[in-house]
Amino acid sequence: MNHFQFSLLTADPESAARRGRIQTPRGVIETPIFMPVGTQGTVKGMLPEALKDIGAQIILANTYHLFLRPGHERVQRLGGLHRFMNWDRPILTDSGGFQVFSLGELRRITEEGVVFQSHLDGSAHLLSPELSIGVQQALGADIIMAFDECIPYPATREYVLQSTLRSTRWALRCKNALGEKGQQALFGIVQGGMHSDLRRQSSDQLQEIGFDGYAVGGLSVGEEAEVMYEAMDFTLPLLPQDRPRYVMGVGTPENLIEGIRRGVDMFDCVMPTRNARNGVLFTSFGKISIKQARYMDDQQPVDSVCSCYVCRNYSRAYLRHLYQSGEILASVLNTHHNLHYYLDLMTQARQAIEEGSFSRFRREFYRIRQEQNL
Ligand code: GUN
Ligand code: ZN
Repeated sequence: MNHFQFSLLTADPESAARRGRIQTPRGVIETPIFMPVGTQGTVKGMLPEALKDIGAQIILANTYHLFLRPGHERVQRLGGLHRFMNWDRPILTDSGGFQVFSLGELRRITEEGVVFQSHLDGSAHLLSPELSIGVQQALGADIIMAFDECIPYPATREYVLQSTLRSTRWALRCKNALGEKGQQALFGIVQGGMHSDLRRQSSDQLQEIGFDGYAVGGLSVGEEAEVMYEAMDFTLPLLPQDRPRYVMGVGTPENLIEGIRRGVDMFDCVMPTRNARNGVLFTSFGKISIKQARYMDDQQPVDSVCSCYVCRNYSRAYLRHLYQSGEILASVLNTHHNLHYYLDLMTQARQAIEEGSFSRFRREFYRIRQEQNL
């Protein structure tokens, strides 16, 4: 019995955009979807109730962080991550294959896995494919990710080749470690850098192993937007039509629209939440920095066409004041608005695909940004 199922509902006639639905034991996920990032078992500044209010269907958490603190076994003893953080909708956990590689000097890669030093206390650990799956099982996420290496950019072709082959061997070990048990869906992660033949090889080999969904990793790692779009252009068509496709760590609102056009179903990124805490707000007309003095007496809402709680109740002047004063509420309100913006953009994109008007929606999205410069 498979508790995880993806159905394709509508395909856009003019692009590769698709409207789909993922069924999980904890509920349905309408795609395309953006997943707010809750690294430490909390989407920073957001009560779970607030996340539900803005329509979050699934959130992301991180193996690496929860493994180090408070420990996956403790989370399991406390009833699993959903109960621990009071979130009863789906959760996806990343495997640690990104966080551990961001450690720079503090890590060493071997065939067995990655030896790294904790960023918290310097203690040494080996994160292997088997341990990553063990941690993700203990946490109890609904969708779990294969352990991989997110290849830096730029990298030599030889490095990309060897790393990608190793990630594929690790993906097989992940699949074997998970076995048949449980209700968790396992996604493979296509690597291969910016090389179309290596992406093809990675995608083919992962499909041979067989996964519930396929992610594209190694994007948004410092390359130009055009380079990323080109990589999406040749990678997305390699993935099976009947499985969800997830582009990891992407991105700006523009990146999301361009990803959807190329057939991506799922996205995650720290951008809306992290930028919010730095006073950067996303609007239909582009980004604004709420710390600027020009907003000191501005009685308008952040975004005149946003229907979120923040835009219905607060002025830019007030949000600027909160930010300048270093108030906690600045982060809370800014995060609420930014996540609402991202999720609403996805809702609109889904509706446009259903109505066969995605191309018009995309044109309009860019037109509004050009017209009004904030
Ligand atoms: N997050 C962003 N990119 C990646 C990637 O390539 N691998 C993993 N595991 N997570 C990511
Ligand atoms: Zn708003």
